[in-house]
Amino acid sequence: MPETQKNHRVAVIPGDGIGQEVVPQGIRVLERVAALYGIGFEWEVFDWGCERYVLDGAMMPADGLEILSAHDSIYLGAVGLPGVPDHVSLWGLLIPIRREFKQYINLRPIRTLRGVSSPLRDPAPIDMVVVRENNEGEYSEIGGRLYRGEGAELAVQESVFTRRGVSRAIRFACELAATRRSRIMSATKSNGIIHTMPFWDEIFAETVGCYPGLEAAQQHIDALAATFVLKPQTLDVVVASNLFGDILTDLGAAIVGSIGIAPSANINPERDHPSMFEPIHGSAPDIAGRGIANPIGQIWAGAMMLEHLGHADAAAAVLDAVERVLEARQVRTPDLGGSATGEELTDAIVEAIVPRSAAGAS
Ligand code: IPM
Ligand code: MG
Repeated sequence: MPETQKNHRVAVIPGDGIGQEVVPQGIRVLERVAALYGIGFEWEVFDWGCERYVLDGAMMPADGLEILSAHDSIYLGAVGLPGVPDHVSLWGLLIPIRREFKQYINLRPIRTLRGVSSPLRDPAPIDMVVVRENNEGEYSEIGGRLYRGEGAELAVQESVFTRRGVSRAIRFACELAATRRSRIMSATKSNGIIHTMPFWDEIFAETVGCYPGLEAAQQHIDALAATFVLKPQTLDVVVASNLFGDILTDLGAAIVGSIGIAPSANINPERDHPSMFEPIHGSAPDIAGRGIANPIGQIWAGAMMLEHLGHADAAAAVLDAVERVLEARQVRTPDLGGSATGEELTDAIVEAIVPRSAAGAS
């Protein structure tokens, strides 16, 4: 590594369940590619999560966000375990990080990997990116409960859509589409949700008006879910609110072959704060502790982190190694029909990473 190159300081939060299994595998891959491509990483691991909550009553220390803010990136596994209510664990760790660090874009590529088959009948490759609004929308703290336990009990949950929040997400998606196949699809539901979604649609129409080169369309979320299954190849960039984007991306991960392979990047585009990289999947307590979790979602999230940190060639080398291993069909975890452990699959990926000179990069 050239002396002048600075190390990237990464905060690592393995979290809960299979997060603790796949994060070390992701780091092995990143360490290997870093050695081959002259990249420096400094890892600091934080044992924040549900086990800490059970002991201390908090998912992270009171100054947790301050501690994280000293890092360039955050590499997260998964959060949530039975015994701690999900809304407590997630609102105690993952969601405050997304919000406080203004990671208002959640980028989720949904792409067929060589060697992984889709459960869909049409095997044509799928290649889209879901841009999920990541700070507001349906995920909001505004609301409350009344008359608990009584017949008249009620719950109110407000959605929050701001002009600033919606337009920056749609703008980001437009810019991204312009670098790809120039198609943008907006997920809406303005036929049933009569305040926020017509507002979303208006801002979508205004924003795409500034990008005449794009082919823009919108679909109600229910019909769009069907499009994901019936004609996913027609989609390029999909822009969606927080909840719609959440649902569409589990569906998206499933149609490209496994929820275990899909990555996610929580981006603060201004780079005022660290961005955070994690797989789309959760902590999967049902399979945790057996070593069989697929590490590819975590590894691909690591590739997205490399790209964000300015190492597009190293990111491409990681994905290429992943695809070559999958294509060889020798080593696969059970979710892909094999019997390998996550560690064995990672061994194969680490071995398959092509050094920079061999890859022909400068
Ligand atoms: C995701 C997850 C989270 C979300 C949960 C765990 C709160 O499903 O990142 O997709 O809904 O954002
Ligand atoms: Mg989700």
